[in-house]
Amino acid sequence: MYKDKKVVFSGVQPSGVLTIGNYLGAIRSFADFSETYHCYYCVVDEHAITVRQVPADLRRRTYETLALYIACGLDPEKNTLFVQSHVSAHAELGWILDCYTMFGELSRMTQFKDKSAKNADNINAGLFTYPTLMAADILLYQSELVPVGVDQKQHLELTRDIALRFNQIYGDTFVVPDAYIPKETAKIMSLADPEKKMSKSDENENATVRILDPKDVIIRKFKRAVTDSGSEVRYAEDKPGVSNLISIYSAFTGKTVGEVEREFAGKGYGDFKLAVGEACADALAPVQAEFARLTADKAYLEDVMRKGSEAAAHDAARTMSKVRRKFGFTDLRR
Ligand code: TYM
Repeated sequence: MYKDKKVVFSGVQPSGVLTIGNYLGAIRSFADFSETYHCYYCVVDEHAITVRQVPADLRRRTYETLALYIACGLDPEKNTLFVQSHVSAHAELGWILDCYTMFGELSRMTQFKDKSAKNADNINAGLFTYPTLMAADILLYQSELVPVGVDQKQHLELTRDIALRFNQIYGDTFVVPDAYIPKETAKIMSLADPEKKMSKSDENENATVRILDPKDVIIRKFKRAVTDSGSEVRYAEDKPGVSNLISIYSAFTGKTVGEVEREFAGKGYGDFKLAVGEACADALAPVQAEFARLTADKAYLEDVMRKGSEAAAHDAARTMSKVRRKFGFTDLRR
């Protein structure tokens, strides 16, 4: 409990143009917490550099990710919106938590295994210790709830283990957080390979629908989406392509899976794919318009960043001071 409200924290890496996976799995739900929780939503640029980035692109995407947060309904007056590298406590606590996290635990992280397979020429130490920095993000603010897609579940479990371990050694220091994973959209799959997660770093452009794709591109991508043999629009384990499209359509229209199946009974995949594309494009249109307006106003975005990082740094300092005291660092800041 903090400032009389429970705390929500989440973050998105500015490592690519965000996809509807990021939107439906995470960002779309962020605004739901703004009234009842104290919310911190962070652009996690320090996480992004575990993979090589082009500096100018990273900088631009950092602004864009912040703009997307706001365009997706996050009011900077009601949420603390900030950039991770502007608050040095993240890296500081990340190092400390490294010393309370076991090599074996980090070795078991599936995201580390996947990313090292994809970046075989750059398996750096940061890629390995990525989850402890993520734990620091969350624990710094005494967060209770962390809205994420299912791919982050293992990192959240590790965060809980680290918090419990620390609390056991030094007494209550951190709130032990829970993941909040939306049921129907926890894992939006690639349109090119429905056995794989839709990922913003996928090199195959047809695999992902980006939040900022224009309507004609969105429709074309859905038309090309890999579906299964047969022609029936039905949600089933042996129909991963169609099931993924049903989840997306249902998320954008608010219709249940049963309603979607009935709507397209007797119709082919062609009609269905077009409808999914249209529903997606229509739902994203207001976000895109707001994004265009916001990115034209860099001064405003910088103002949001500045205020957000000041508020976040102030709150993070409270936890840092507690942590430093607990395990015996000298502290001249009192
Ligand atoms: P990132 O930047 O990869 O993704 C941002 C959010 O989008 C979710 N997501 C998906 N959800 C459903 N279907 C998909 N295909 C899909 N792809 C991505 C992710 O689960 C995530 O919630 N490590 C995090 C960033 C992070 C963070 C944190 C999150 C750093 N520190 C602290 C929460 C709390 C990441 O790489 O997300």
